[in-house]
Amino acid sequence: MLHDHIERVLFSEAQIHARLEELAAAISADYAQTTPLLVSVLKGALYFVADLTRAVSIPVALDFMAITSYGSAQATSGAVRLIKDLDEEISGRHVLLVEDIIDTGLTAAYLLRTLRARDPASLRICTLLDKTARRIVDTLPISYRGFEVPDMFVVGYGLDYRQLYRNLPYIGVLKPEVVAAT
Ligand code: IMP
Repeated sequence: MLHDHIERVLFSEAQIHARLEELAAAISADYAQTTPLLVSVLKGALYFVADLTRAVSIPVALDFMAITSYGSAQATSGAVRLIKDLDEEISGRHVLLVEDIIDTGLTAAYLLRTLRARDPASLRICTLLDKTARRIVDTLPISYRGFEVPDMFVVGYGLDYRQLYRNLPYIGVLKPEVVAAT
C-alpha cells in the first residue's frame, strides 16, 4: 500500500490546507487591484496550484510550463529544458510563478530568466516548500512561502520520487528501504 512506504508525515493534509488558506488570503489582498497570471510548473506544483487557485478570492488566470531537469532522482543539476511553454503572452502582466519546492534554486532561476525576458509588469514567486539549507541562488523573489523544510527528500502532494508518490494527500519522507530498493 502507498502509505506503508512512508516513514514519517512532515505536513498533514489539514496543515497544508490551513497554510494554503493563509497564502491565498495574502495573494488575494496583494493582487486585489490586478488580475494576475499564475504560472505553474508541471508536474510537481499541480496539486498546490489547483488548491491555491480555488482558495483565492480574486479572479486569476492560469497557465502552465513543463520542464525536465537533468540530474539524479533526488537532486537537479540545474540544467533545465523547457518541454512545454506558456500558452499566454505575459508582457505587461502581473505574473506569479507557483512552485512546489525550491531547493538549490537553480530551476527557479532558469524559469525567472525565461519569464523576465518577456517583460512582465511584475514577477514574483510563491512556493509551497522552501529548502533553504541547500540554496545556491539566493536572489529569488520569494514573496509567498508555505513551509520551510529541512534538508531531506520529501514526497507527496505533487512531489515525486521516480514519478511516484505525487498522489499522497500529505507531504512525507519515504522509508529508507523503499529508496534502497529502487
Ligand atoms: P532546484 O533546482 O534544486 O531548486 O530543484 C527544484 C526541483 O527539484 C523541484 O521542482 C523538484 O522537482 C525537485 N526536488 C527538490 N527537492 C525535492 C524533494 O525533496 N522532493 C521531491 N522533489 C524535489
